[in-house]
Amino acid sequence: LSVRAGLIEPDGGKLVDLHVAEPERGLKKREAGLLPRVKLSRIDLQWVHVLSEGWASPLTGFMRESEFLQTLHFNSLRLGDGSFVNMSVPIVLAIDDSQKERIAESKRVTLVDSDDNPVAILSNIEIYKHPKEERIARTWGTTAPGLPYVEETITKAGNWLIGGDLEVIEPIKYHDGLDRFRLSPVELRQEFEKRNADAVFAFQLRNPVHNGHALLMTDTRHRLLEMGYKNPILLLHPLGGYTKADDVPLSWRMKQHEKVLEDGVLDPETTVVSIFPSPMHYAGPTEVQWHAKARINAGANFYIVGRDPAGMGHPIEKRDLYDADHGKRVLSMAPGLERLNILPFRVAAYDKTQGKMAFFDPSRAHDFLFISGTKMRALAKNKENPPDGFMCPGGWKVLVKYYDSLTPS
Ligand code: ADX
Repeated sequence: LSVRAGLIEPDGGKLVDLHVAEPERGLKKREAGLLPRVKLSRIDLQWVHVLSEGWASPLTGFMRESEFLQTLHFNSLRLGDGSFVNMSVPIVLAIDDSQKERIAESKRVTLVDSDDNPVAILSNIEIYKHPKEERIARTWGTTAPGLPYVEETITKAGNWLIGGDLEVIEPIKYHDGLDRFRLSPVELRQEFEKRNADAVFAFQLRNPVHNGHALLMTDTRHRLLEMGYKNPILLLHPLGGYTKADDVPLSWRMKQHEKVLEDGVLDPETTVVSIFPSPMHYAGPTEVQWHAKARINAGANFYIVGRDPAGMGHPIEKRDLYDADHGKRVLSMAPGLERLNILPFRVAAYDKTQGKMAFFDPSRAHDFLFISGTKMRALAKNKENPPDGFMCPGGWKVLVKYYDSLTPS
């Protein structure tokens, strides 16, 4: 793959592409039919997608034990030449005792979807113990019950992990009307080149865009122009994989983001909207490193980070799980992310004196209103309006409609 000199190089120097070449697909499918099978959950399949397109470059498949240990203990992987790339969340595949028995001495397995269709072959496999408690404690910093990703995938998962090299038979599609927004790192790089970007700044999000988010993005653009860049392009990059039950689903967020561009809050000329296929861990400072690293592979050399990235409320205590400042501090120091320019932002809140979202000024704290996700949901559910200037009207209407669709008539 040719990568233009202008864009940041992918981790490890070249983007991994784990798809089987088209002429060989038929043959691979037949091979796949002869191997022991491992069934993929919905979230496993999302990771296959992530790996296949090289978001986790230079990783070539589900982690083997040495990669798993490096990820857990160092948040990074050592390459053959002694250099390091960042890798903060384990990308692993769990199997149970009976699956392990069925695999027996085979060195290869076929990964199948919920309808038993072969999706990929995993080769040179290694099966090792799934140390669940340690994985959870080191990734989240707590084993408190109620962590969404843990409950969804780890608690009930098997006691073994299977790593190996992945060959994906056909590109992963979801057929939900949004596949055209799922640009791979290669496609994003092509898009940035087509637009002649001389800087690419990424914004990761899993929530609807309010004007506080928009402030971070427009402020970044100004900063980059001041630094002398002529054509900075924004990658508005909503996360498209698993999210917890009370987050707004992807399809509604995409409608909301469309309105944000239509209403002129963000400029379509200088913005690329695309979906990041990763599932969400809600692992705060640990996970934000993954969010940033993956965007290097997609060609972003600037990364915006604000308050409490990838955070959530503590599952059993009345407080946030992570210190709201730790995400951006950790990201600014993270091993393997030295090449990425981190743009840390203060918290934005509604400034009652100006009637708009602005950076919080602690010297006049009483002028500010914090509108949390919970508060926003409550307003939309009750069909109340947030204060003017919190979110563009078109975007707000989408949210009201979404919460309306949840109420039984
Ligand atoms: S995240 O899980 O994707 O990080 P979210 O969609 O809420 O969650 O946030 C997207 C980005 O906006 C993150 O970088 C986050 O730190 C930042 N952010 C969210 N709300 C605020 C706010 N009020 N002030 C400053 N930054 C914020």
